[in-house]
Amino acid sequence: METQVRNAYRPDGAVDEAAVDAAAALLRAGEVVAIPTETVYGLAANALNEAAVAKIFAAKGRPQDNPLIVHIAAMADLQPLVTAVPEAAKRLAKAFWPGPLTMILPRSARVPAAVSAGLSTVAVRMPVHPVAAAVIRKAGVPLAAPSANLSGSPSPTNAAYVFADMHGRIPLILDGGSAAVGVESTVVSLVGAVPRVLRPGGVTVEQLRAVLGEVEVDDAVLHKLKDGAVAASPGMKYKHYAPRADITILKGTFEQFCAYVDGKDATVLCFQGEDAHFPRAVTYGKAHDGASQAARLFDALRELDEQGAKTVYARCPDLSGMGLAVYNRLIRAAGFHLVDLENPEK
Ligand code: TXA
Ligand code: MG
Repeated sequence: METQVRNAYRPDGAVDEAAVDAAAALLRAGEVVAIPTETVYGLAANALNEAAVAKIFAAKGRPQDNPLIVHIAAMADLQPLVTAVPEAAKRLAKAFWPGPLTMILPRSARVPAAVSAGLSTVAVRMPVHPVAAAVIRKAGVPLAAPSANLSGSPSPTNAAYVFADMHGRIPLILDGGSAAVGVESTVVSLVGAVPRVLRPGGVTVEQLRAVLGEVEVDDAVLHKLKDGAVAASPGMKYKHYAPRADITILKGTFEQFCAYVDGKDATVLCFQGEDAHFPRAVTYGKAHDGASQAARLFDALRELDEQGAKTVYARCPDLSGMGLAVYNRLIRAAGFHLVDLENPEK
């Protein structure tokens, strides 16, 4: 299959309606199309068409037990997908939709079980990206869309990365430039007694608490699942975001970091302005600035691979704000390998 990459914008900066039409026509015909969103690129298909959804799993090589997020363009699109819209969901939608927030809600019978990998729930998100919103509206159906990478690779933040993974597998990639957020949406479950963050992302835990009060953070966000444990969010159990390089996160000050890597034959993953200290370094955003780190992280992981890095030592992000989402991706990329230079006895 020939994969076309098409610019989603006209030279004057407006969304190219002809490109949107082409994507929508393919989607209505049951095909898979990669589209830009504000978080990462998505691999979209008609969420209500089981055969189309099956093509997503095939194109990605995604395990059948990992459920998909359904993307909508308006609040009226939510009702048919779920059996209830709890008060908390209404408040979150008001505060953060459209935007990088995914809510887990009870699934209605209209959503094929395959979308949710057989779970009784469904994940729903309303993206704010103008191209994503236009494609959903034009297609006239909700779009199931995981990140547009091959299963196990970092999520793609631009069309070239999508093409590298998906060429020959899908007919069309809409190019909307670089993704602004750079990591995937926050996934929050609203089916339990207390709202629970299953995956941190573009909307921070602090922001959710400001709207809802009590919000729990699932253990799997920071820690490796114990053998045999059931993941609340099946995606958390897979080796995700993993470059080929062997990454170790070093927790501590920049001075401690420098002392630890001194004399080691390694590449360093550090913050802007720190790279001059090392013979081989890739940067991912500014220190103490989670949003800038998120915007760079997946690109930086791909750059490490492009450079052929084998052993990598990474600076540790703060765990507050967007830093939690950055840490969640980085600790997985590192296979949960962290050395605490502040408490060396541990
Ligand atoms: O920002 C994003 O969320 C991007 C863009 C394209 O929207 N999408 C994305 O999809 O990251 P994906 O499939 O790569 O990640 C979806 C995550 C997975 O960890 C999956 O297990 C979880 O959401 N998930 C989906 N449905 C779920 C459900 N019903 N219950 C629990 N977790 C669910
Ligand atoms: Mg993904």
